[in-house]
Amino acid sequence: MAYNLLKGKKGIIFGALNDKSIAWKIAEKAYEEGAEIIISNTPLAIRMGEADALAAKCNTIIVPADASNVNDIENVFNVAMQHFGGKIDFLLHSIGMSMNVRKSRPYDDIDYDYLNKTLDVSAISFHKMLQTARKLDAINDWGSVVALSYVAAQRVFYRYNDMAEAKALLESIARSFGYIYGRDKKIRINTVSQSPTLTTAGSGVKGFDNLVDFTERMSPLGNASADECADFCITLFSDLTKKVTMQNLFHDGGFSSMGMSQNAMLQYNKSLDCHSCD
Ligand SMILES: NC(=O)c1ccc[n+]([C@@H]2O[C@H](COP(=O)([O-])OP(=O)(O)OC[C@H]3O[C@@H](n4cnc5c(N)ncnc54)[C@H](O)[C@@H]3O)[C@@H](O)[C@H]2O)c1
Repeated sequence: MAYNLLKGKKGIIFGALNDKSIAWKIAEKAYEEGAEIIISNTPLAIRMGEADALAAKCNTIIVPADASNVNDIENVFNVAMQHFGGKIDFLLHSIGMSMNVRKSRPYDDIDYDYLNKTLDVSAISFHKMLQTARKLDAINDWGSVVALSYVAAQRVFYRYNDMAEAKALLESIARSFGYIYGRDKKIRINTVSQSPTLTTAGSGVKGFDNLVDFTERMSPLGNASADECADFCITLFSDLTKKVTMQNLFHDGGFSSMGMSQNAMLQYNKSLDCHSCD
């Protein structure tokens, strides 16, 4: 059910690869809620993914860009402003990539070139988008910017590897730029820390299915799906959240506040009685 929450608003969605992508769901919902959007991804992702289908569904265009390349980002904003005939109101950064994760490099034996790439693509690209948008004055006053994060920014998650550093940096950029953009243009910047979600990027982490199962059981409300994440992001782009800024907002069914659950305690006690487990 749509509420016209984004009627008259215009936005850019970075990171929709296929219909599992969180950005894909956000693009669909933004369009349903009355927004005009343009979508962007790397040339390779556009070739290999299903961006054409999303563009057709949302009646829009695709602008290729490597988010770590400032010229590419500048081009996306310029094309968007031309396309819309004015500035945008919202921006989604839904981008993550780690070669150390992809190549299963253990955290104490990571490749530093890969680390630089992880940070550049997954976090510094967010700064590049914000700095470019500000220089071009591409976002309307009271606009809203959201980037997707993960609880590994605060706590250790085995095998999440250098993406943890990327997410910590991403969340810090949201705060630091949130101050400047809020002070000068009333533009708000937040990160949404989402439950593990079965997408192409998510499934790149080894043992991901087990993690999804663990967090599902530990979260009082269960894991948040990509669709539910999209609903939440729509509220952040809407005028209903105009004074929320510089926050990392957990959208995870309560997982991030849990320590021990009743079921986990029962299971733990059972394992103490298990003699074959010694
Ligand atoms: N899936 C999860 O469990 C989960 C949980 C919390 C947060 N997130 C975050 O959500 C975001 C979206 O990931 P997803 O799970 O939808 O997976 P996804 O694989 O569908 O999306 C990742 C996107 O990043 C894009 N990308 C990679 N390198 C890029 C570059 N150089 N320039 C531009 N785009 C580039 C990919 O093409 C892809 O579209 C990421 O920031 C991810 O870390 C995911």
